[in-house]
Amino acid sequence: MSFNWIDKSQYTLDSFLLMDRWLIRMIINTSNNWPEYAENLSLALASKPYVAWYCSKKAPEIKEKVEQLVLSAPLNATNEQIKKAEEFIVEATETSIIYTDPINMNRNCNYIYNWKEERLLELVDFKDKIVLDIGSGTGRLAFAAAKLARKVYASEPTDMLREYMKDKIKNEGISNVVVVDGTVEHIPYEDNTFDIVMSAHVVGDYYDAEIAEMERVAKNNGYILDCIGDDDRIREKPDEEMLKRGFEYLYHKSTLGGDIYRYRKQVMK
Ligand SMILES: C[S@@+](CC[C@H](N)C(=O)[O-])C[C@H]1O[C@@H](n2cnc3c(N)ncnc32)[C@H](O)[C@@H]1O
Repeated sequence: MSFNWIDKSQYTLDSFLLMDRWLIRMIINTSNNWPEYAENLSLALASKPYVAWYCSKKAPEIKEKVEQLVLSAPLNATNEQIKKAEEFIVEATETSIIYTDPINMNRNCNYIYNWKEERLLELVDFKDKIVLDIGSGTGRLAFAAAKLARKVYASEPTDMLREYMKDKIKNEGISNVVVVDGTVEHIPYEDNTFDIVMSAHVVGDYYDAEIAEMERVAKNNGYILDCIGDDDRIREKPDEEMLKRGFEYLYHKSTLGGDIYRYRKQVMK
């Protein structure tokens, strides 16, 4: 599925050189269960040895896999075949490449550019609160919350996105947002630290573990929020996995026609 978040003619495999270890690992490991992708990745990496080198150095755990991919590339590929392979991989890794280009992420991702911050601020009272945003991206939720909150910790595992948020803080003189590294699986804070723990487009691979971590760092009577942006996706109903775990939801139709469910849960310890 293509989201059209990037203009493919403007990107090459060199975007991998801007990626973090976890992204490189994911991109290489995708070849384990998608033969067409493996074939194209093999040719693309073999044609750009410096990218293969970077991947192996950045994520040593997939070094052997990279070597295998490079060795399995056909030796007699034409320039046209190599170009096609690279285009295939750029298209297939669009949702990772966009993280290396925060300005275009803001410009091209409908869930960001089409969103209004009231959608977050109406979920709970942010005034004077200590807030954690998990997987902040370019800071859609974090900077909205910061207009009312005492302090917002914007946690993000992608270096390019952390740097983008730091630049924004500096350029706009924002004094109550702190940018930190971290993932939802291992939130690097003590128990009961935050009044509000929020995220969007992050929870969903391992609901129990992810929500348990969010609850752990939330204070008693604090809130956990999941506030996706206004995309164009048709959703028949709210996410039952969230409802099963005690979340209530608010619904609206986005101007792009998407069904947008936002979730809120008060933490009782
Ligand atoms: C689709 S973007 C959404 C960004 C932002 N939350 C928003 O809604 O505008 C997903 C973000 O989660 C980050 N991410 C990916 N895996 C993560 C994980 N395991 N824990 C925390 N964040 C993660 C990505 O780097 C990316 O910035």
